[in-house]
Amino acid sequence: MGYVVSTIRDVAKQAGVSTMTVSRVLNNSGYVSADTRERVEKAISDLGYVPNSLARSLRSKSTRTVALVLTDVTNPFFTTLVRGAEDVASRHDFNLILCNTDESEAKQTQYLTVLLQKRVDGVLLVPARSTSEPVTWLQRQGVPVVVVDRRVPSADVDAVRCDSEQGAYEMTRYLLGLGHRRIALLTGPAGVSTAQDRVNGYRRALHECSLNEGDELIAYGEFAPHSGYRMAQQVLDLPERPTALFAANNFIAAGAYRAVRDAGLSIPADLSMVAFDDLPAGLAVEPFMTVIEQPAYEMGSRAAELLFARLSGRAPSACQEVILPIRLIVRCSSGAPS
Ligand code: RIB
Repeated sequence: MGYVVSTIRDVAKQAGVSTMTVSRVLNNSGYVSADTRERVEKAISDLGYVPNSLARSLRSKSTRTVALVLTDVTNPFFTTLVRGAEDVASRHDFNLILCNTDESEAKQTQYLTVLLQKRVDGVLLVPARSTSEPVTWLQRQGVPVVVVDRRVPSADVDAVRCDSEQGAYEMTRYLLGLGHRRIALLTGPAGVSTAQDRVNGYRRALHECSLNEGDELIAYGEFAPHSGYRMAQQVLDLPERPTALFAANNFIAAGAYRAVRDAGLSIPADLSMVAFDDLPAGLAVEPFMTVIEQPAYEMGSRAAELLFARLSGRAPSACQEVILPIRLIVRCSSGAPS
C-alpha cells in the first residue's frame, strides 16, 4: 500500500475550514470552537496527516530535538547514561537523537555535521578524544554543548562527569592495603581523558606509598574486550607476574577476565582483579567483581538538565562542571596476594 502524503490544505478542505484554523488546532493556539476542533481532528486522523516539522521549526526556530553523541552504544554504562538523558528530554517534550561514534573522531565529525544540518537545539557529547575542536565548532554555530563522562580541558564548556582520577586512586589504595605491590593497570586510549585520569590516580596512590609503577605494568589499549584480552596477556607474560589486574572499564575487564581464565589462573586465588564500572543492577545475576561504580543514569540526567537549563537561559552564564561521586564496591574478585 502506497503512503499518500496529505497536506494541511487537504485537511482544511475535508474539515471545511481555513488552513489557518487547522494551524490553530495543530499548535493549540487561538480560539477554535469544540465542534470545529473535532472536525479538524477527524480530518487529520482520516487523512493520516503528519505536520511538516521543518516548517514549524523554521517558524519557532527550534526543532525540539537534542542529540546525544557517545562512543559505544553496546556498553551498558552508556545505555544507562542514555536512559537518564532521554527521560529528561521526554519530560521537556524534546526528542533525543542518539549517535554512536565507536571512539572514532572521523565518525564523530560526520555525525556533528549531520546534527548541525538537522538544526538540533543542543548536543550532549561524549568526546572521542579530549581535543577542543569539536566543542568550539558547535559553540561557534550557536549550538549549546554539554560534555559528558570525559573532560575537554582546553574548552570552556559545560561538563558532567565522574572523578576518574579519584576513583582510580581509591581503588589502587584499596589494593595496596591488601598487600599488593605489583598492580597492572589496563586502560583505554591515551588521548581519552578517562583513560589518562585513571592512570594518574593509580600513579598518585603508588607514589604516596613510595612505589614507582614500572611502565611495563601500565598497558594502553581500547575500551573493548579484545583489547582487554591482549593487554592482560601482555602483563601476565611479564617475568614477574602482577598480583592484581586493574581494568579501566567494564569491557576491558571482560576481555582480561577471559585471558586470565585461558592462562589457567583463577580469581582471586591466583590474582586479584578489579575494574571501573559496575554492571547495571539486575544484569549481573551474582556480581563478583570489585568495582568503582559510576552513576551512569545520573550522569545522563544531570547532563541533559544542564543542557535544557542552558537552552532556556536558566543556567548561570559561567560554564558549569558537575563532578559526580564514584563508589568503591568490594566483592570477591579481590583479596590479599597469594
Ligand atoms: O565503560 C565506560 C567508561 O569507560 C566511561 O567512563 C568511558 O569513558 C570509559 O572510560
